[in-house]
Formats: sequence, C-alpha cells, structure tokens
Amino acid sequence: MKKIKIPLDINPYEVTVGSDILQLISSEIKKKKLFNNLFILIDSNVDLIHGGKIRLNLSDYPAKIALVKIPSGEEYKSFETLNMIYSSLLSENFGRDTLIVAIGGGVTGDISGFAAATFMRGVQYAQIPTTLLAAVDSSVGGKTAINFGGTKNIIGAFYQPKFVLTDLSFLKTLPKEEIISGLGEILKYSFLYDKTFYSLLEKNSENLLSLEERSLEKIISECIKIKSAVVVNDETEKGLRKILNLGHTFAHGYESFLHYSIKHGSAVIVGLLCAFILSRRMGLMSKPNFDKFSLFIKKFNPGFDYSGLDKEELYRIMLHDKKNRQGKIKFVLPIDIGQIAIDCEADKKDVLYTLAEAEGFFI
Ligand SMILES: NC(=O)c1ccc[n+]([C@@H]2O[C@H](COP(=O)([O-])OP(=O)(O)OC[C@H]3O[C@@H](n4cnc5c(N)ncnc54)[C@H](O)[C@@H]3O)[C@@H](O)[C@H]2O)c1
Repeated sequence: MKKIKIPLDINPYEVTVGSDILQLISSEIKKKKLFNNLFILIDSNVDLIHGGKIRLNLSDYPAKIALVKIPSGEEYKSFETLNMIYSSLLSENFGRDTLIVAIGGGVTGDISGFAAATFMRGVQYAQIPTTLLAAVDSSVGGKTAINFGGTKNIIGAFYQPKFVLTDLSFLKTLPKEEIISGLGEILKYSFLYDKTFYSLLEKNSENLLSLEERSLEKIISECIKIKSAVVVNDETEKGLRKILNLGHTFAHGYESFLHYSIKHGSAVIVGLLCAFILSRRMGLMSKPNFDKFSLFIKKFNPGFDYSGLDKEELYRIMLHDKKNRQGKIKFVLPIDIGQIAIDCEADKKDVLYTLAEAEGFFI
C-alpha cells in the first residue's frame, strides 16, 4: 500500500493506493474527523459488479448512509443528474454534516465533486476511483464539473476531496478500452516530469497492460505524485497546471469531432502523437527525441480509427475550444522529457500538416 500526500496550503489530503483497501473508509473518516453521514454516489456498472462487496464493507457502518446510483456514461454528467442528486440529498434529509463519497470513474467523480462543492455551499467529499483514468487523473486535483449545452466541463468548480482511496481490485473488472483510456493519461505523465518515470513505463508497459498489481501500484502512485507536484504549484490553472493539457488540444478536437464516441484517454494517445509532430514541425523537438518518443507510444494503440477525417472541420473545432482566445489555438508542446512549452501558437497550415502526418501511424 502506498500513501501520497497532496500538500495544498488550504485543503491538503492524502491518496491511498493499494489492493482491497475499501474497508479503510471508516478509519479515514475517523482519522480526519470528518462528518460520518455518508451519501454515496456510485456508478451503475460498478454497483452491478462490486455493489455486494461495497455493501458488505459498510454493513456495520455506525451512522446514516445512503447509496444512489449514477447511470454510466458521459451523457449523465449533466444538469439532470445533478438535479437528481440534490433532490435525493434533500428528500433523505442530508444536511451540512454530510460526506459525499464518489465510487466510480471520472464521470461519477466529477459530478459528485460538483454536487459537494455546491450543495449547502459546500459539503465534504471523498473519492474512490474505479477506472484507471480516474485513479491517475480525475480523482486528484480538485477539478469538478458537469457538461452543459453540448460543451464538456463548462460548469464546474475547483473543490478538493478530503481523501482518495484507490482500491486496485476495482480495476480488474475494467473493459480493455477503459484500460487503454487510462493509459493515455499515464503516457502523458511520462513526458511531464523526469526520465525515471519514463523509463519505468518503458520497462513495465506489458505489466501495465496486463494490470499486474505491483507495477500498477507503483505507476499509479508515481502519476499521482507528478499530478500533485503540478497542482500544488498551480491549483487553479493559471500557469504550470497547463502542462497537464499535453496532447489534450488535439484530443478534445478528435473527441468532439467524433461526438464523444471514443474514450478520452484513447484520444489523448493520438493527441500526444500530434503534439510530437507539431513540436518537431515548429522546431522545438529534436529529430532523435521525436524518433524515440513516437516509437515508444506506438506500443499503445488507441483502438479507434481516426483516418480520413475532415481536417478543416477538426481545425475549426479545435479553434473553438474554450481555452482559446483571439482566433489562435494554443498548444502545450513537449521538447524533451520534463521540458514542456505552454501557450504555443501554431499556424493553421502546421496544424493541418500535423493532422495529416498522424494518420495511419498506429495501424
Ligand atoms: N476532474 C479532472 O481533473 C478530470 C481529468 C480527466 C478526466 N475527467 C473526466 O473524467 C471523465 C472520464 O472518466 P472515465 O474515463 O473514468 O469514464 P467513466 O466514469 O465514464 O467510466 C468509464 C466506464 O467504465 C465503467 N466502470 C467504471 N469503473 C468500472 C470497474 N471497476 N469495472 C467495470 N466497469 C467500470 C463505467 O460504468 C463507464 O461505463 C470525463 O467526463 C472527463 O471529463 C476529469
């Protein structure tokens, strides 16, 4: 079992990563002197597969407890689901002394966090991530949100959990596409910080793909440490935190173009490739680095076909991303491991060149 501190000035917390650690909920609540009226929001698929184990773990829980299902799928990270959450909290008489616990992937985590941030002007919450993506990314850092009017994460708040319990036993039941999706973010981290993590990943790529527990525990912990180092220095994304968007400008373009029919992390894998190509094109990344990094990510097939898409339309979609201003797309581009350039403005022709070059790479 590993413990990683997220040492924020105002709301520091700890992430615990290990196998079969669900039973630590009660002790975490006691240790941190949190409110113990539990309002659990659980992903419907997780409830189907793991609900029995979860209920057993909480069978002798000494305070009020409610378990509410969040339907599986990005379309449920919505105002309607939020409405349902507020209504359930009120109808079951939950008050300020509530601890909202999210058990699920990024969808459940994001909407639960936003409900916690806004219900009665903010109640405590905790995260129990059950997807690889949520374990390495969305459960840490305090970004909470819902989608609205066709735009992802457009309504939200920065709101930190009180603790995160990452129980690796949940990950064993993930479909393959969800594992690949988590891998996208893990790959991103390997370029952000130092060569040690990159090498760890290079050596353990097979173990990671097969969810070997010791490698998984180590890799997830390292990702959280990297995210923590970034978030602690820039909690509300004014500068450094932008590096976490490496590969994401292109990824969001593909996701939006394909109407979110692909997994976010899979799009990030292609987005990383595009970031390498654009960085090389703009003279930021050296040829040896480009060759090495593209060979490395070639091992991680994103599992969707992105060839033959209308590149002009993709460009237009990227231009309208909420992070762009004044008709320019801003990219986060890697130069070397741990050397990341932010706010790089690229010409349209270079972006179109990148999209064309990326085609066919993973086939
Ligand atoms: N807050 C942040 O910082 C942040 C960062 C990255 C992504 N996100 C958000 O996260 C969301 C994506 O998260 P996600 O990829 O976890 O998707 P998700 O929450 O939709 O989960 C993916 C699928 O896996 C299923 N599932 C979850 N746990 C399972 C388990 N243990 N076994 C079997 N099936 C399981 C779910 O029912 C769902 O069908 C997006 O909405 C994205 O915007 C947020």
